[in-house]
Amino acid sequence: MKICIIGTGYIGLTEGLCFADLGHNVNCYDIAKDKIEKLQKGIPTLYEDGLEEMLKRNLERKSINFTTNLKEALKSSEVVFICVNTPPNPKDGSADLTALIQATKDIASNMENKFVLVVRSTVPVGTNKIVKNLAQKTNSNLQFTMASNPEFSKQGTAIKDFLNPDRIIVGVSDENTKSAMEQVYKPLTDKGSPILFTSVETAELIKYASNAFLAIKITFINEIADICEKTGANIDEISKAMGLDKRINPYFLQAGPGIGGSCFPKDSIALYNIGKKLGLDMELILASSESNKKRKKRMAKKIIEASNTKLKNKKIALLGLAFKANTDDTRFSPALDIIKQLHKNKIYVNAYDPKGIEKCKSMLDKKYLKTTNFFDNVYDAIKGSEILVIDTEWEEFKKLDYKKVYELLNQKVIVDLRNILDKNEIEKIGFKYICIGK
Ligand code: UGA
Repeated sequence: MKICIIGTGYIGLTEGLCFADLGHNVNCYDIAKDKIEKLQKGIPTLYEDGLEEMLKRNLERKSINFTTNLKEALKSSEVVFICVNTPPNPKDGSADLTALIQATKDIASNMENKFVLVVRSTVPVGTNKIVKNLAQKTNSNLQFTMASNPEFSKQGTAIKDFLNPDRIIVGVSDENTKSAMEQVYKPLTDKGSPILFTSVETAELIKYASNAFLAIKITFINEIADICEKTGANIDEISKAMGLDKRINPYFLQAGPGIGGSCFPKDSIALYNIGKKLGLDMELILASSESNKKRKKRMAKKIIEASNTKLKNKKIALLGLAFKANTDDTRFSPALDIIKQLHKNKIYVNAYDPKGIEKCKSMLDKKYLKTTNFFDNVYDAIKGSEILVIDTEWEEFKKLDYKKVYELLNQKVIVDLRNILDKNEIEKIGFKYICIGK
């Protein structure tokens, strides 16, 4: 099919490439000229496992095209996916639909053929209706139907998740749109991926409900980890034991420094706002969101308390700036809270991340950059630091030469906020080892 993708962020770009790999003909549009120029040359604009090869492969066989010319991108497209950001509104955290509204107007003004307009961005329930009315109002001759098709890909495994989905959710209100969407996903459903058709409103809400539920699950295990730390129980064993119960399952039960990324924190508070506007008290969701915010701030205290001496005017090594492993994204990353809280306490940070340094720098005010030094080499970041903090579960950090780390570090203290190291091995070298929930 001829598919057009509006917005080449994490979702638009990876999924545009996946659709191309599945045999569709894809046009990707973005207003950012610099991004499009890079993509046209085969240069990835973000880090995602397998993306670079996929980009080169599809450019070579001309199954994908990148452009800033919307008319060209839309020309003869049968299905148009809106994949723009819906960031949190700074005032109340509700989803900011500015980019979505603009994209809708632009599509409606430039589209010349009949098509299905798909909202892929995460949006409050009722948004598809707003988009439909706006498109009609912008161009009364527009021939289109709507579908809500939320995505469930995780950054870092977005390509794998898209190609092997647990489920595909499509909200439609007519048979023709349903058939068009069946065609779009036929290569996946033929291989057994389940597809579930619902009403548009239901599809919109499935996305928020799923993200908020998973966020609550992680927040819950993080609070149990706090009890473990005060009682001598072991969170990893608890997660394993709870996960063996099929009703609970083992996924998203890993305790850590708090939830980051552009989705869970933002979608939880957006869902709270959806309820509030409907006159409902979404107390559980609000509590989970607040608990998570506090947890990320509290990590700095844990670091300070782990040190054998006062850290004021000294530096610590912080490994991992991305909000999780295998991504360069630092949005809502616990590392940002750690850097800010340590700055308040006049503690310097030697920071290292395999992919996230540039994005981290771009998210920090000047004052924080004055107390944070970034390193391209992990051992250079550790050298002469007081203690070592692991904030992201990158494979690289599991495989460091910890005997060498022992020599480079002033105090022999490791704070492992992801529980990725073997306590016994680390303590055998001579380190004091502090982790989560043990
Ligand atoms: C999340 C969802 O998992 C995807 O299904 C969804 O499509 C996506 O949001 C989205 O709405 O676009 P993502 O934000 O990429 O994906 O990352 P996750 O793997 O879900 O992790 C979110 C946060 O929870 C990270 O900070 C991670 O470290 C943390 N986490 C995750 C834990 O602390 N423990 C866990 O067991 C799992």
